[in-house]
Amino acid sequence: MPDMIQDPPVLIQGGMGVAVSNWRLARAVSQLGHLGVVSGVAIDAVLVRRLQLGDDGGHMRRALAAFPVPGVGEQIIEKYYVPGGKHGQRLVQMSMKRDKPSRQTEDLGVAAAFAEVFLAKEGHDGLVGVNHLEKVQATTLPMLYGAMLAGVDYVTMGAGIPKTIPAVLDKFAAGQPAELRIDVKGATPEDNFRSRFDPVEMMRGELRPLARPQFLGIVSSHVLATMLATKIEVLVDGFIVEAPTAGGHNAPPRGKLRLDEAGEPIYGERDVPDLDVIRDLGLPFWLAGGRAEPEQIQEALDLGAAGVQVGTAFAYCDESGFEADIKRRVIDLSRQSQAQVFTDPVASPSGFPFKVVTLEGTLSQENVYENRRRICELGYLRSAYRRSDGKMGWRCAAEPVELYVGKGGDEKDTVGRKCLCSALMANVGLPQVQREGDLEPTLVTSGDDVAEVARFVPPGADSFTAADVVRYLLPEG
Ligand SMILES: Cc1cc2nc3c(=O)[nH]c(=O)nc-3n(C[C@H](O)[C@H](O)[C@H](O)COP(=O)(O)O)c2cc1C
Repeated sequence: MPDMIQDPPVLIQGGMGVAVSNWRLARAVSQLGHLGVVSGVAIDAVLVRRLQLGDDGGHMRRALAAFPVPGVGEQIIEKYYVPGGKHGQRLVQMSMKRDKPSRQTEDLGVAAAFAEVFLAKEGHDGLVGVNHLEKVQATTLPMLYGAMLAGVDYVTMGAGIPKTIPAVLDKFAAGQPAELRIDVKGATPEDNFRSRFDPVEMMRGELRPLARPQFLGIVSSHVLATMLATKIEVLVDGFIVEAPTAGGHNAPPRGKLRLDEAGEPIYGERDVPDLDVIRDLGLPFWLAGGRAEPEQIQEALDLGAAGVQVGTAFAYCDESGFEADIKRRVIDLSRQSQAQVFTDPVASPSGFPFKVVTLEGTLSQENVYENRRRICELGYLRSAYRRSDGKMGWRCAAEPVELYVGKGGDEKDTVGRKCLCSALMANVGLPQVQREGDLEPTLVTSGDDVAEVARFVPPGADSFTAADVVRYLLPEG
């Protein structure tokens, strides 16, 4: 049985991938007495690139030295760390074989998640969570285990239906192996495509007791909340109820997709969750999406919520992982009332609508998109399909069109798709150098709240900190 939630935090800093919610941001928010969340999405690739770029400050190496299985951290450092950093050269890629990973690939996933949570928790006893996307299935198990090894307090997960994750957390806390069903397009009822992770193998037989984190499902509808609270094997511990104004991926509107004149999905009455139903489920819930005002927090509390989750405001603070230049330019645009987002129905290979900030020089601009040669080098947002030989294959709608079509994909699905994996890495200062020598371009996501994000900048300053955001949101502490 999961532990009872004790004093749930009022404020959750949203999990923002890739590494926008990094250990520095989560640590800062956690030390302020709230729930700081690190992004677990692609955290193995983040670690590999940070090491190749010289591991400024030695934080990755310090965290890896604390990894409990002897030799694992050292091997990763030996393989990827480049003293002084490789600059302007192509970075070594890690294996994209993730559903049946080698021992080394699995070790890397576990150690990377461990390191991010370890650093976020270092030197204080505040709460830290980790965020994953349900759609990114192949890497989830090792990364959840790594986060638990570092004592993660909460796991949050959306972009899909995370119905088996609470049971996985129970199993890992008990030192038992767990499996995760992988959604495979074209799978037959006889197929059984799963990823599997065994803590005993990972720990080389030296299991240690692990606390079971709380699990919060990120939902946009009361129907899904009801299912996760009443109809699955191990129930969730609470919810984050996210509106389509939130940054990152959004749930698609219910029913047939309709676009407005600008080409954005139209949301209507049916997309508004019934909070009475959610409240009556009796579990704590937080409201997310455009909730970064003291009055909106009060309104959430009055509606029975435990608090709010805020993303965009924290994405532009000094501690966030976004490149300094992105933060400065977007804060400037907001000051001039010119910061805008477009909810792109096709950009993300995941098929979910994805919010994109309109910003010169990024993939939000047609010419930058057209100039990038399609290539899939990270592969987190690939989807699995059943090959003609009955085995599982992987394809991404943003990979070269002929490859995608050759794997049975529909050419229509490739139109306007953007390589989020490469762009989101570039956003946080970890761009790959393309074979032609240019850096991978960026593509910035944010919620509608980006329009007003300059409000957090204190008078006379150019930037703001996580503490400025928290002071603004909760002026009475
Ligand atoms: C830059 C950015 C990246 C995000 N990435 C993720 C993500 O990887 N997973 C997730 O569950 N939510 C993600 N979100 C959503 C936030 O966690 C949060 O729920 C949302 O931002 C709240 O709405 P707000 O942006 O209006 O404050 C992201 C948001 C932003 C701004």
